[in-house]
Amino acid sequence: MKYFPEGLALGDYFLNRVTERDYLISRIKSNKHTILMAPRRYGKTSLVTKVAGEMNLAYCSIDLLAAYSEEYVRNQIVNKVSQLVFELFPNLDKAKSKLITIFKQMKPEISVGAFGQKLTLNLSNYPLQDITDVLLKLDETAKNFKKQAVIFLDEFQQISQLVNHNSIEASIRHAVERSENISYVFSGSDRHLLQQMFGDHSRPLYRLCQTLTLERMEKKVYIERLQKLAKAKWKKKLADAVLERIFIQTELHPFYMNVLCQIIWEENHIPAAESIDRIWHNYVIAQRQIISSDIMKLSLNQKKIIIALAASPTTEIQSTNFTAPLKISASSAQQSTAILRKNDLVYKDIDGFFRILDPAMRYFLNVIL
Ligand SMILES: Nc1ncnc2c1ncn2[C@@H]1O[C@H](COP(=O)(O)OP(=O)(O)OP(=O)(O)O)[C@@H](O)[C@H]1O
Ligand SMILES: [Mg+2]
Repeated sequence: MKYFPEGLALGDYFLNRVTERDYLISRIKSNKHTILMAPRRYGKTSLVTKVAGEMNLAYCSIDLLAAYSEEYVRNQIVNKVSQLVFELFPNLDKAKSKLITIFKQMKPEISVGAFGQKLTLNLSNYPLQDITDVLLKLDETAKNFKKQAVIFLDEFQQISQLVNHNSIEASIRHAVERSENISYVFSGSDRHLLQQMFGDHSRPLYRLCQTLTLERMEKKVYIERLQKLAKAKWKKKLADAVLERIFIQTELHPFYMNVLCQIIWEENHIPAAESIDRIWHNYVIAQRQIISSDIMKLSLNQKKIIIALAASPTTEIQSTNFTAPLKISASSAQQSTAILRKNDLVYKDIDGFFRILDPAMRYFLNVIL
């Protein structure tokens, strides 16, 4: 039985995020665009999917993870938009002629296939123009039927890796800033690249959006839910010490909270605090290959820093206390930490401590090696 999803958290699985939900809902209602920033597996996709579902809006998610050319980006956008249009009106028979008029330039054809209605659009030899056109036509359709829609562009930073990224970004901006009924949410797992795309004044998307940042959730968010599920599973509540071991091992990282709890909830007997440590230990060992390959990519100084931070987080990366045992200069420590933070391997917590972002990696370096 699935108690804790490794994939998207939807329905009852989705906890909290009240402020973030309210903020995103208000942005969408006023048709403003948002960039959602968080390290990997903090709940970006879950949040947007949840909000779009709650608002009962037409919604599509476009994943640009594999973007390798402007044609690919165009095709992904056109494909998703040609499905999304059908959510914008109640009855195709009445809407058909309007739809054909709006998309006229792209020689639209409407057909019924295995996956429902389908709008086929004729693509031009100018992918960038197609991107702008199809997004603007979608907005026109939404306006015509007095509907709103949300487009979620995930792993959006992949565009910045393409040779002509500036032109692609410009064609997206052109449509987004003109849109009146479509609200855009941009997100991705490389915050550094996203920050450059939206924060650098020489880039086309500069200042197009406000940023929403996701942090880890507090213990109290989880306690009620875990106790409810403990009762459902073992007819008893978990001891405080057990909860505490779960929080200590996962450091409240949303993905690891779910992974660890799912394994715990597969136990026949209600676990004791020591069992939590044993389960976590075995889980991290099983992740050895993935974690080692991340560590092997690091430079010597980055390795030194990450191992030192796994053992003891610090607020003072450049202090002699921290650097002397590592035999590196204060400036190298600073530089290496900056790269580790940029790559989301290290983060600064709210109390100013530099920590390893991934609790499994922290445990692996600290306990298993
Ligand atoms: N609000 C939430 N309540 C409970 N669990 C959550 C919540 N948000 C996310 N999770 C869990 O965290 C993990 C990551 O969620 P999700 O895939 O939405 O994150 P993401 O930031 O989009 O990840 P990626 O960077 O891989 O795209 C999943 O296990 C999901 O179930
Ligand atoms: Mg995601």
